Amino acid sequence: MSKLNVNGKLLDYVADDGTPLLWVLREQLGLTGTKYGCGIAQCGACTVHIDGVPVRSCVMPASAMKPTQKITTIEGLSATGSHPIQKAWLALDVPQCGFCQSGMIMAATALVKDKPNPTDKDIDEAMTNICRCGTYNRVRSAIHTAAREMAAAKTGAKPKLVSELGKSVLNIEHISGDQA
Ligand code: FES
Ligand code: FES
Repeated sequence: MSKLNVNGKLLDYVADDGTPLLWVLREQLGLTGTKYGCGIAQCGACTVHIDGVPVRSCVMPASAMKPTQKITTIEGLSATGSHPIQKAWLALDVPQCGFCQSGMIMAATALVKDKPNPTDKDIDEAMTNICRCGTYNRVRSAIHTAAREMAAAKTGAKPKLVSELGKSVLNIEHISGDQA
């Protein structure tokens, strides 16, 4: 029995050495918001944070994780889908089929934490995730929107996005990891 520190909890799992973190998250811990796309670190659907850094969990052996390393999945990003990136995703209706979106959101949240005012070039360099539905333009717009909201919040300005949210159940599932 080994332990992983996921979304603030120490959780037990059993897996052979070399089993990708993605499969432990999905199949043993029930965190199915993180998706399998390619299995070779190309698409980004499986992106999680390890100590705040975006990592492609399909190529990261679970056995390489220490219990002191904090893993965050889309389910642990915010309690109610209220991270500014998630709000911007809803406001701009970014998801189409939704499959790639939890990975996109995990990459985007790491980006705005690292670079609170990202340029288009910063976004292009950080957002290497693949979307078969072609949501790239909306992803870019949502990142800029979230960055503006976060900057405004620091000055005490009232966030604008809350009143603009489209409350589509489908889209809320796509930004919170509720879609299996
Ligand atoms: S499933 Fe991990 S990068 Fe595609
Ligand atoms: S929204 Fe369909 S794959 Fe990206």
